[in-house]
Amino acid sequence: MQEHDFYNTSAKKRKKFYDDNWHKIIIHWVKWNQSFYKMVDLFIRISDSIIELWTWLWIVPKTIWYIWKDMISMDFSEEMLNIAKENCKEYKNITFKKWNINNIPYGDNLFDLVIKRLAPDNLKEISRILIPNWIFINFTNWEYDAIELKKLFNLPPHESINEFRTKLIDSNFDILYEWEFTFLEEYKDIDTLVKMLEIAPIIEDFYLNKEKYILVLEKLFKDNKSFFLTRHKYLTNARKKTI
Ligand SMILES: C[S@@+](CC[C@H](N)C(=O)[O-])C[C@H]1O[C@@H](n2cnc3c(N)ncnc32)[C@H](O)[C@@H]1O
Repeated sequence: MQEHDFYNTSAKKRKKFYDDNWHKIIIHWVKWNQSFYKMVDLFIRISDSIIELWTWLWIVPKTIWYIWKDMISMDFSEEMLNIAKENCKEYKNITFKKWNINNIPYGDNLFDLVIKRLAPDNLKEISRILIPNWIFINFTNWEYDAIELKKLFNLPPHESINEFRTKLIDSNFDILYEWEFTFLEEYKDIDTLVKMLEIAPIIEDFYLNKEKYILVLEKLFKDNKSFFLTRHKYLTNARKKTI
């Protein structure tokens, strides 16, 4: 199954997870997303042309709709977009568009602000569509994110912050601000961990080989009362250079 099919087929499951757990998730997220949303709030207010990349269900547009600026939100999964459109139908300032990361369908130097949260990169494309001197806000999982699961299943870690910084600079950005932080998530039962792994792309083939992974996780919970997972996040504010 291709990545596109994975996102399309898991869209409804993801929506259900968020519907069922929204009240818990929002409190958890407000804590660790605060700096991201404060930064987004500030820059949206001074920007006129805004694009949010790889929107998923609705979380970024639904959290910042109140600023009431026109904004484009994109994703390549029609199923994700259908759910996002339905959830944001009262916010007429947000337009959803289906497109792929590799060629964003806009000309050069058009946007004041590009926002991307927990989604794939194409820094050259992002740099191309931004007006020189204007801003890219990126919030992402980082090097040690979910490291316990990566080690347990022998999976490669995320790229390092230094590798990402080099790519940003190569794509014609100056880094204005960065903030890196970690916290621990505690899982007290296997069901909650499995539900999270079904919707978060931490183990990419989890949905294909679920039984194999569950066997190992069951042993983990047999030997331990709870499982602590490191989350490692990184927030960047980068400005496109003028030349
Ligand atoms: C983890 S989710 C993004 C989360 C979302 N930005 C948020 O903050 O809630 C990743 C999203 O990227 C989209 N995506 C993955 N690969 C893509 C690609 N090549 N082009 C466009 N969208 C892509 C998926 O459909 C999915 O909705």
